[in-house]
Amino acid sequence: MKMISNVSIKINEAAVTAVVEVLRSGYLVQGPKVKKFEEDFAAYCGAEHAVAVSNGTTGLHLALLALGIERGDEVITTPFTFIASGTSILFVDAKPVFVDIDPKTFNLDPELIEAAITDRTKAIMPIHLYGQSAEMGRIMEIAEKYDLAVLEDACQSHGAEYKGKKVGAIGDAGVFSFYPTKNMTTGEGGMITTNDREVADTLKLLRNHGQESRYSHVLRGFNFRLTDIGAAIGIEELKLLEGRSKKRISNAKYLSEQLSDVVEVPFIAPGNRHVFHQYTIMTDKRDELIKSLQEHEVGHGIYYPKPLYAFKPFENYDTTKLPVTEELIKKVLSLPIHQDLTRDDLDTIVKAVRNAF
Ligand SMILES: Cc1ncc(COP(=O)(O)O)c(C=O)c1O
Repeated sequence: MKMISNVSIKINEAAVTAVVEVLRSGYLVQGPKVKKFEEDFAAYCGAEHAVAVSNGTTGLHLALLALGIERGDEVITTPFTFIASGTSILFVDAKPVFVDIDPKTFNLDPELIEAAITDRTKAIMPIHLYGQSAEMGRIMEIAEKYDLAVLEDACQSHGAEYKGKKVGAIGDAGVFSFYPTKNMTTGEGGMITTNDREVADTLKLLRNHGQESRYSHVLRGFNFRLTDIGAAIGIEELKLLEGRSKKRISNAKYLSEQLSDVVEVPFIAPGNRHVFHQYTIMTDKRDELIKSLQEHEVGHGIYYPKPLYAFKPFENYDTTKLPVTEELIKKVLSLPIHQDLTRDDLDTIVKAVRNAF
């Protein structure tokens, strides 16, 4: 029996050829391929600008800087996410303020945001978790009312939509990750999207030593550039993204039809296009389910086993346990959903899950 993996990482021949071309061109870093990848990605998202960076984490760090977040400012986000969402706030010496999540979408609960706003609050960072947009309508309304910046952590949500609009083009900036397990990859890599020219210009300086022109450094910058090797892969991967998203959506539909009577299947908020980076179910019998998945050689993941406030980097901030997050970390489990699963694979997954109950 073949193991059904939770992830699929296959680089196609077009990307291999494009990488070889870059290697032969001698232009290896932030050259013509990066420029083309930025143009293609901005057009895909419907954003005016896209700035490529070395990964999603450096993207969040730079986006916070470019939005003017600084020492002592407070940034509202959720604790139910990957560590980098929270540590990026620490990198700019700001304070993460964790707000609980909606129990159905796993995303920032907009109804809890206003109570967390103080006179130090400068930004809201919704996480579009698992491939589904946060409730951006309400979040943008609140941001406008209190004059806050909105940074979308879209690292898991390439191609996801909120009411017909692609994530990354809704807030003041959006950040994507191209780590190999994501719906599209560049090896390591990231992209920041924005409709604000000033923000885009600042990001371009920040990622490249604050360098305006050769040896003219106008601000304190970093080396967070993307390589042309990565961008060459990204250009080809972006062409595959829509096909992959459609396959993931149809796999999710099938699994939900087969499993909704035994587990809580993913909820898709009305108006959202969920692109299923993860297909995450909830159950009170997670240990039994894991045992059955292992017996059937079906991979799984638990995203996330701990809330961010339980990790050491956040110990000096408010670590009050948030009830919905605390409950869901015990119940969530992600099943394989990727584009390379066959109908037989899906049926094996269904069997493995059903056998546990
Ligand atoms: C929600 C979220 N934010 C940030 C990141 C960081 O991205 P990267 O791994 O490219 O640094 C990731 C990716 O792993 C993520 O899933």
